[in-house]
Amino acid sequence: MSARTTVRKAVFPVAGLGTRFLPATKAQPKEMLPVVDKPLIQYAVEEAYAAGIRHMIFVTGRNKRAIEDHFDTAYELENELQAANKGSLLTVLRSIVPDDMLMSYVRQPRSLGLGHAVLCAEHLVGDEPFAVLLADDLMVGTPPIMAQMVAQFEALKQSVIAVQEVPAEHTRRYGIVAGDKVRPGLIKVSRMVEKPAPEVAPSRMGVAGRYILTPAVFEQIRQQSGGVGGEIQLTDGIAGLMKTESVYAFEYSGKRYDCGSKEGFLQATVELALQHPEVGAQFKAYLDSLRTSA
Ligand code: UTP
Repeated sequence: MSARTTVRKAVFPVAGLGTRFLPATKAQPKEMLPVVDKPLIQYAVEEAYAAGIRHMIFVTGRNKRAIEDHFDTAYELENELQAANKGSLLTVLRSIVPDDMLMSYVRQPRSLGLGHAVLCAEHLVGDEPFAVLLADDLMVGTPPIMAQMVAQFEALKQSVIAVQEVPAEHTRRYGIVAGDKVRPGLIKVSRMVEKPAPEVAPSRMGVAGRYILTPAVFEQIRQQSGGVGGEIQLTDGIAGLMKTESVYAFEYSGKRYDCGSKEGFLQATVELALQHPEVGAQFKAYLDSLRTSA
């Protein structure tokens, strides 16, 4: 494993096709869909930043330019807001990329799977541990989930993947892990299976879209020839990593919304709208009025 033990870089694989959200994702990235007033990708970047990570690496693809634009300066818009004396909106815009944040972009030429997308970032990550955040999993927790994971990584110095208990009938939607419980909330992983049927799932601990991985995972991904659905799976790369290193599954404290699915996206929208300082109270009154008129 690399000598470095702090997590400085985060990889955001955003090159998927987002077919579950068509037609919304025909011409715009799924990761730019807004929950209340912020695109999904911004929630994930803020989560990484709150964990002390400063270098954000995006693995993009066709139709994903809006993501680069979102994290770039919008001069015309800033000038307009300045002229109109809309200082607070200007602050909102400028705070998207704090001065100490570094952004890099690399393309995944084809959607060959999540493992392949992560491999595309290898030359930008180099020989050090790194985080992976899937923006379509919107994670809410205190402290933020990635900060919880960095704390685990700093204690263990080994790869850590976020897991949650999932209903038995949902194992097909997740990578499922099994292993020995080290202490409450922490499992030393001995098996990982991608999207198993409930009858063959080794447990009900499902992987959520947050990982901290050691750089040895790149070589393991390279050795994969294509798993479930012909895609190069990150799960298979991590399973390979377990032959030479320990991998831990960490049961985070917080909530995950699967915003790659319509149902999860709607749940996130309602719950985050209710908590929103500007619209929360009014929105709650609106929902209450729907209930009483039903
Ligand atoms: P998903 O399984 O959600 O795939 O990928 P998807 O293609 O985006 O969505 P659906 O299933 O067609 O609706 C999980 C994450 O991995 C990225 C996606 O962008 C998403 O953030 N990904 C997936 C890639 O970057 N490249 C790939 O080849 C596949």
